[in-house]
Parts: sequence; structure tokens; C-alpha cells
Amino acid sequence: MKNGIKVFAPASIGNIGVGFDILGCALDKPGDEIVVALTDAHEGLRITRITGGKLPMEPEKNTAGFAALKLLEHLGESKRGIDMEIHKKMPFGSGLGSSAASAAGAVLVINELLKNPLSKRSLLPFAVLGESIASGAMHADNVAPSLLGGIILARNSSDVHRLHTPKGLYATVIYPKINILTKDARNLLSPTVGLKQMVQQTSNLAGFIVGLYNSDFDLIRRSLQDVVIEPQRAQLIPHFYAVQEAVLKVNGVLGCSISGSGPSIFALSQNTLAAAEAGIVMQQIFNTHKIENQLFISPINQEGAILL
Ligand code: HSE
Repeated sequence: MKNGIKVFAPASIGNIGVGFDILGCALDKPGDEIVVALTDAHEGLRITRITGGKLPMEPEKNTAGFAALKLLEHLGESKRGIDMEIHKKMPFGSGLGSSAASAAGAVLVINELLKNPLSKRSLLPFAVLGESIASGAMHADNVAPSLLGGIILARNSSDVHRLHTPKGLYATVIYPKINILTKDARNLLSPTVGLKQMVQQTSNLAGFIVGLYNSDFDLIRRSLQDVVIEPQRAQLIPHFYAVQEAVLKVNGVLGCSISGSGPSIFALSQNTLAAAEAGIVMQQIFNTHKIENQLFISPINQEGAILL
């Protein structure tokens, strides 16, 4: 697209095990690119091109398109002629926050195109609306880190808090190439949680956050255990427990669980060496079982979505 404005929005790890729907962190790569340009050729928003995957071209059915429409409506700019291109540079249905990245990129690029009428943070509710098309629910655990960067506690789409990232914290994510739709992975969850699990999970979430602030890797390691969601979703991911068991044996690995709604599996480590070793261990297991996979190793991205 000629004269377009382009943004990059990164992948993210939703839930980080202990914070279902409320915790997430951004990765450096992979990520999606969204390009927009003003046009006099028509009124309103049009998606003119999508590369890297088959997604709806109708803006109201597309996570990036819907997020952009909602933002434009809020700004009273619904009639503005805009062409949008979406370049998917990561797999969707992967648990890497792909739909969230497109929604985050879309709101940032529209805001840039219109000369930044809103702050980056106040774009979040529109991106959350966009992502809800793919997920079937409103949660900001992927959208907030993809837009804002860092490790984020998102109580809801307007009450979001960046948590401290300890020096050395690294993420390893493996995507075994099977498709899980977030909607399906949500529908299988029990609507209730037992009292015992509730106590364990809240103490793990609290311990994890205190561990981040104090750079206390031992506390993070003890706390990074999901006793509520992981046991319900693990069956969707072939060899999940074998991968987790092997990864947790690596010196310097702090925890290992399901990234977002899966099938990707993440590990957090206290240094790059451990992160790389965790990646080797993960790949070995999927390769042995002839399951095609993709590996990503990244520090916690502190920028979120950026103008290119
Ligand atoms: N928190 C969401 C879930 C992340 O686990 O269903 C996926 O978008």
C-alpha cells in the first residue's frame, strides 16, 4: 500500500498460568503488521488485503476491522475513507494472542492515522471489543500486553496495571501445529471452582506478583502453578505433561504451562541459557512424536505495539 502507516503488534502469553483472563505478557516476536491509508475512493473502513492466513475481509467480522470500526465510531470518524491491510505474521488458533495482536495493531494504527486523538492506554477497550469476536468473551490478558508491552495485570479493559519485570526473565514458547479455537477451549471450562483450588490459585497469583516485584525467582518458581485451568485444558494438547515435566527439570526454569488457550506451551526462565535449554527440551519431545512445531524465545517486550 502506497503512503500507508504501518504498525507492529507483538504476540503475547495470556493467563501466564496463574492469572486466567487477567495476566499476560508481551513477546518480542512473532507479531502482526497492520497498514492503513486515507482514501477518497470510498466512505468508511475497508479491508483491502490480508496476507498470512485466511480471515474475513468484512471489517465487522474481523478482529482488527471490528476494533478499528469501534474506535472510529467513538471518534465520530465512521465515514472517513480508510483502506486497511492485515499482514498475519504468526499462526492463529495457536495460543500466542494472534487475534489480540491484530486488534491491538488496528487501534494503534487508526489512532496514528488520525494524528493521535487518544492516548495509547485509552485505545485498549476498543481492541478488547475487537478480540472478543475471536474469543467470544471480553478479556484483556492478551490485548493489553500486545498494545502496551510488559507483564500486565488487567482487572478489566480499563483497569490495567504494568507489573515489574525482573532482570533476566525470559520466555520460551513452543507452538505444536494443531489448531485450538479459543471459543472451544473456553466452552470446556467448568463454570465453578472448588474452595481448595481457589485458595491455592489466589496464593499462587499473589506469590507470583510478589516474586516479580522482589525479583525473587524462588518465589516465582513456587507460585507458577495453575491448579484450575491447566488440568481442564491439558488434554487438548498432545504430550503436554511430558513437555512440562521435562522442562521443569531444566535448571533456571521457573514454570511451564499453557499459553493462553493453547496449544502453545510456555516456560518462564531466569536467564537466556535456561530459556534456550527449555526450548531444546520442548522441541525434542514434539519432534520425537513427529508433531510439527515452531519455537520462540524472547525477553519480555516492554514496548508493545509500535509504529514502524
Ligand atoms: N484468557 C484467554 C483464555 C486467553 O485462556 O481463554 C485466550 O485468548
